[in-house]
Amino acid sequence: MFHVVDHPCVKAKLTILRDRATGSKQFRECVEEITAFIAYEALKNLEVETVPVETPIASATGYRIRNDVVIVPILRAGMGMLDGLLRLVPDAKVGFVGLERDHETKLPHEYYCKLPAAGPDSVAVVVDPMLATGGSLAAAIDLLKREGFRQILVLAIVSSPEGRDAIEATSPEVKVYTGCLDAGLNENKYIVPGLGDAGDRIYGTL
Ligand code: PRP
Ligand code: URA
Repeated sequence: MFHVVDHPCVKAKLTILRDRATGSKQFRECVEEITAFIAYEALKNLEVETVPVETPIASATGYRIRNDVVIVPILRAGMGMLDGLLRLVPDAKVGFVGLERDHETKLPHEYYCKLPAAGPDSVAVVVDPMLATGGSLAAAIDLLKREGFRQILVLAIVSSPEGRDAIEATSPEVKVYTGCLDAGLNENKYIVPGLGDAGDRIYGTL
């Protein structure tokens, strides 16, 4: 399932991210803010359980998230989305997958993986702002499945039709939530119009 989060605030923030004049500080802040809007939709189906709570007036029924939420940023650009998500799910665990696209082949190279153990109630929430060819996300999903994660959600900011099709072909059960679906990829496998290299823009390594 592939879902574009259609919201005026997402559209406005995406415009700031796309703008080549936006500097790293504002870019990072905007990535964090837009992540909250995408997460709002993506996390709607998390399970809750009731807990008693005492208000200053009376006893009431409170709720807490029942799932074991494991946020998995794909290094490096995915780190830009982590804090925004941790603010919404402060008890989440965090696993890391290091993948970098080879500049020649455009294929992802894995250089790091550290994941918490998967349990029956675990929901892995993969975060990466860019879904281009889908190679990096497919590799991350493979790793998670091999480690026993059965429920996998993905939060992206900018996606391409090629990336969407690649994930739908290999992992149709994975739900992908994205801020937009752009026109396609250029000859260097960058998303058009996209926003450029997300990692470089977040960390100022242009
Ligand atoms: C970018 C991006 C994704 C990947 C998307 O990371 O953050 O992980 O490319 O491309 P794909 O869908 O074609 O695999 P990159 O490899 O540039 O590494 P970085 O985050 O360290 O900059
Ligand atoms: N990675 C990026 O950061 N941007 C793209 O457009 C494609 C891959």
